Amino acid sequence: MPPPRKVIIDTDPGQDDAVAILMALASPDALEVIGITAVAGNVPLALTQKNARIVCELAGRPDVKVFAGCDAPLSRKLMTAEHVHGRTGLDGPALPDPVMPLQDGHAVDFLIDTLRREPAGSVTLCALGPLTNLATAFRAAPDIVGRLREIVLMGGACFEVGNVTPAAEFNIHVDPEAAEIVFKSGVDLVVMPLDVTHKALVTRPRNAAFRALSSTVGRAVADMTGFLDRFDPEKYGSEGAPLHDPCVTAWLLAPDLFTGRRINVEIETKGAFTTGMTVADWWGVSGRRANALFLGDVDAGGLFALLTERLARL
Ligand code: RIB
Ligand code: CA
Repeated sequence: MPPPRKVIIDTDPGQDDAVAILMALASPDALEVIGITAVAGNVPLALTQKNARIVCELAGRPDVKVFAGCDAPLSRKLMTAEHVHGRTGLDGPALPDPVMPLQDGHAVDFLIDTLRREPAGSVTLCALGPLTNLATAFRAAPDIVGRLREIVLMGGACFEVGNVTPAAEFNIHVDPEAAEIVFKSGVDLVVMPLDVTHKALVTRPRNAAFRALSSTVGRAVADMTGFLDRFDPEKYGSEGAPLHDPCVTAWLLAPDLFTGRRINVEIETKGAFTTGMTVADWWGVSGRRANALFLGDVDAGGLFALLTERLARL
C-alpha cells in the first residue's frame, strides 16, 4: 500500500466544497490533508475560513490546519454567489460555530513555506475555488512552481459553456488573471470542468442515500445538497444540483471514474463577452502545447457510490 498522497485543499466553502473536504478527510488511507487554505469566492473570506473550520469539526478533525488567504481577486472586485449557496455559504444544515482556531499567518505564506519544506513533487494542490491564493504564491515565490506534484482543480468548461456568464465558469471568472498565471505556470494540471460536474447530479435517491447514513455527517450533507437543489434544477432543468468540487477528491481516490484528454487550455482575460472563459482546444487545432488533463465525462453512479461509502466512515 503506497503512503497517502499529501494534499493541500484551497477552497471557498460552499456546500460542494464542504462535501469535497469531508470526502478527503474520510480517506486518510489515500489522502493526507496537510492544510486547508481558504479564499474568497462563493462568500467573502471571513465566511469561507469559518466554514472550512466548521467542516473540519463536522469531520471530527479539529487538528487540521486552516489558514485564511486572499480576500479579493488579484485585480478585480470580488464577485460572490450567495444566491446559490445562501448568506453563510453553508446554508442548509444548522452547524455549530467552530471552536478550532484559525491558524496565524496568511495562507499564501503557508503555501510557500510548505512547498519549500516538503520534498519536491510530493504535494498535490486541490483547488476548489478562485485561484487567487495560488497565483499570489506563484508570483511571490516562483521557486515553488516546480515543487508541486500537480494541481487538481474544479473550474472551466468546454462544451458545457459557462455557468456565471455564457462563456465562463465561476471559479475562473472570479479571478481570470489568477487562473491565467496558474494555467501558464507549467505545473501539471488536472481540470474538472462543468462538462463533468454537470453530470454529477444529486438526484433524490442519492440525497436519500446520504440521509440514510443516519449520522450527523450524513444528515448535514443531505441538508447541504438539498439546499443547493433549490437553484440549479430550476436553472438547468436537471434532476438535481451538480456536485462540483467532490469530483476533485473523487479523481484523487478513483481516477478511473473519469475520462478526458490532455489538451491546451488558455484563459481569456480581455474578452468583452468571454472574460473568464477556459479556451479548451479539445480537437487539437491550435497547435499550442497541451498543459492540462481536461476531463470530459464521469461514471456518476460510481462517483456517488464512492462518496457515500466514504461519508459513512465519518
Ligand atoms: O462553478 C462551480 C464552482 O464555483 C464550485 O467550486 C463552487 O463551489 C463555486 O466555487
Ligand atoms: Ca468551490
